[in-house]
Amino acid sequence: METLITAIDDSSLPLAKSIIERGGAVAFPTETVYGLGANAFDTAAVENIFEIKGRPNDNPLIVHVHKDYDINRLVDHIPAYAKDLADAFLPGPLTMVYKSSGRVSRAVSCGLNTLAVRIPSHAGAQEFLKYVGLPIAAPSANLSKHVSPTSARHVWEDLNGKIELILDGGACSGGIESTVLDCTGEIPIVLRSGLVTREMIARVAGCCGEYKMKEGEPARSPGMKYKHYSPRCGTLLFKYDDAEKALDRYVKERAKGVKAVILCESSLRKRFTGAVVLELGSGGEEIAANLYGKLREGEIIADLLIVIAPQERGGVMTGVMNRLEKACGSKYES
Ligand code: TXA
Ligand code: MG
Repeated sequence: METLITAIDDSSLPLAKSIIERGGAVAFPTETVYGLGANAFDTAAVENIFEIKGRPNDNPLIVHVHKDYDINRLVDHIPAYAKDLADAFLPGPLTMVYKSSGRVSRAVSCGLNTLAVRIPSHAGAQEFLKYVGLPIAAPSANLSKHVSPTSARHVWEDLNGKIELILDGGACSGGIESTVLDCTGEIPIVLRSGLVTREMIARVAGCCGEYKMKEGEPARSPGMKYKHYSPRCGTLLFKYDDAEKALDRYVKERAKGVKAVILCESSLRKRFTGAVVLELGSGGEEIAANLYGKLREGEIIADLLIVIAPQERGGVMTGVMNRLEKACGSKYES
C-alpha cells in the first residue's frame, strides 16, 4: 500500500472521510502527538487499528470528537466538576474518562464500561473531525512501544505501507500525550499526566487525585503498565546531579567505539564541550515539545543514548519525567 502524506485541504479531507467511512485508518495531527484514527462505531475498523500498531488488545483507545459534538451521546454521566474542567481546558490536551453509554464499539474500550473522550485543540484535527462527522477512536500513530510521533514524518517512519493517508498538520506544539483524567468518581483522578497538570485541574475542580498502580491490582489505565515510548537504541538514564558520572560513561563508551550520544537539557550543554549532545531545550513546556523528536533523532544517530534527567520537577515536568523514565526502562544509573 502506498502511504500518501498531504496537507489538510479540500482534496485530502474528502479522501480522509471516504477512508474512514469504508473502515480504514487515517493518521492526523493533534496538539499533543499524531493519532491513528478510525470510525469508533465500526468494530472491524477499530480492531484494525490494534492490528496496524501491534497494540495489546487490553489497552483501550481514546475517542476524539469535534468541539461541537454532543458527548452526551457517548457517555452516561458527566459530573459537575467535569463540566467545569471542560469549560476551562477544552478543546485541549485533556482526555476525560466517563461511564460509557455503550454506543461506540466495545472494541474501543477493550470491554471496560468506561470511555475516554478527547476534544483536541489543533486546528487541523478539528477540521478533520468536523469534516468526517464521526467520533474517531485513535491511539498515538506509532508502532506499539515505540516513541510517539510529533510530526507527519515520524508517522511515516513507523507506518509507511500500512496506512493509506497521513494528514500533515506540521510539528505538534505540545509534544507529550494528553492528560488522562478519570471522571467517574467523586473527585477527578489523573491516570496519565500531561500538559494539563494536576495542579491546574485542582485549581478548577477544588481537588485532584493521582492514580498510583498498586501491585496485584488491575490497572485503571491499562496503557500505563506497558513498556512505552522507547527509542530503538540502548539508553542509560542519569539523575541531573550525576551529570559528571554521565560524562565519564560517555567518554568510556566512546573509547570502546560505541556511538554514544548525550541527551540533556540545554543548560548542561556547556559542560560537555567536544561531546555529541542532543539538547532538549529548557523548562517543562519546551522539553515536552522536543522530547519525542530528540529520542527519535537519538535512535538514528546513536547506539547508546546517555540521558540526563532535567532538573525541574512538578507541573508539566511530571508528565515529561514519566515518559522519559519509561523510555529508558525506568531505572537510573548510579
Ligand atoms: O494525546 C493523546 O492522548 C494522543 C492523541 C492522538 O490524542 N493519544 C494517545 O492515545 O496517547 P494512546 O492510545 O497512545 O493512549 C491512550 C491512553 C492509554 O494509557 C489508555 O490506557 C488510556 O488512554 N485509556 C483509554 N481509554 C481508557 C479508559 N476507558 N479508562 C482508562 N484509561 C483509558
Ligand atoms: Mg500511545
